[in-house]
Parts: sequence; structure tokens; C-alpha cells
Amino acid sequence: MFELLYTSLSPSGLTHAELVELLESARLKNKLLGITGMMIYHEREIMQILEGEKEVVETLFQTILEDNRHTSVNVFYQGDIEERAFCGWSMALKHLDDKAIKMIAVDYEGNEQKASAISMLVDNQNRGKKTFLSLLETI
Ligand SMILES: Cc1cc2nc3c(=O)[nH]c(=O)nc-3n(C[C@H](O)[C@H](O)[C@H](O)COP(=O)(O)O)c2cc1C
Repeated sequence: MFELLYTSLSPSGLTHAELVELLESARLKNKLLGITGMMIYHEREIMQILEGEKEVVETLFQTILEDNRHTSVNVFYQGDIEERAFCGWSMALKHLDDKAIKMIAVDYEGNEQKASAISMLVDNQNRGKKTFLSLLETI
């Protein structure tokens, strides 16, 4: 099993309705591909975790990479995992609200005044995934 985490930017921002529409078709395809994971969205910033068989994740990621609904795609972690963390989620979605941002900032050791919510997660590799999982419980 393999995971890939990336961040990207939506050029003009996505409405909640556009995010839900994107996710609805993504979930159908992910179910067929055996992909699980989670997406976080906040003010044009996107972060996604994809989990599945390595080749399947890599192929799907190539498709996602070419999608013009986002740019500046940056893989900040990929590697083998023992088991899925998002079992049962063909793609969870968390649109960050103030409460979620506070939760992320609590675990952050840098200067949160200067960092965006998603960069706080990325900066904090060892806690990032733990925070992701606690955000999952707030969906
Ligand atoms: C930020 C973002 C995340 C996406 N995540 C997924 C995903 O998890 N699964 C998926 O199948 N498509 C996802 N897509 C959509 C793909 O880029 C692509 O449109 C979709 O897989 C359909 O591809 P196909 O019809 O060419 O097979 C995502 C797109 C964006 C912009």
C-alpha cells in the first residue's frame, strides 16, 4: 500500500458546490480503483492524500496533475504504508472553517500568524497526518 500527499492551488477558487461536484465523480472513480483518502480545501489552497496500490496511485496522480482546475501541484510526501488511514473514505472532504484552523494552529510550532492553514499542516510532517485524522472526525 502506498500514499501520496500533495498541495496545489485553485487559480480562481472553487465554490463549495464545485468542490462537491468534483468529489462526487472522483469518489466513483476512486471506488473502482480502490483509492481512499482525504482532501482539504481552504481559500484556493488544496491538500490531498491519496492511498492505494502504488501503480494505481501514481497513474491517478498523473491525471490529477494535468487537471486545469488547479496549478502549482507540489508532492510533499510519498511512500509505502502498512495500512490505509482513510479506510472506508473514497475521498473525504474537509472545507476548513475557523474551528478547524484553530485546531491545526494548536499543533503548529512555527509562527501561525504568517502561515496559511495548509502550510501549517505541511510544515508539520509528523503531526500533519494526525491532524488530518482528527479533522476527519469533524466532518
Ligand atoms: C484537486 C483535485 C483532486 C482530484 N482528486 C481526484 C480523485 O481523488 N480521484 C479522481 O478520480 N479524480 C480526481 N480529480 C479529477 C481528475 O483530475 C480527473 O478529472 C478525473 O479523474 C477524471 O479523469 P478521466 O475521466 O480522464 O479518467 C481531482 C481533480 C482535482 C482538481
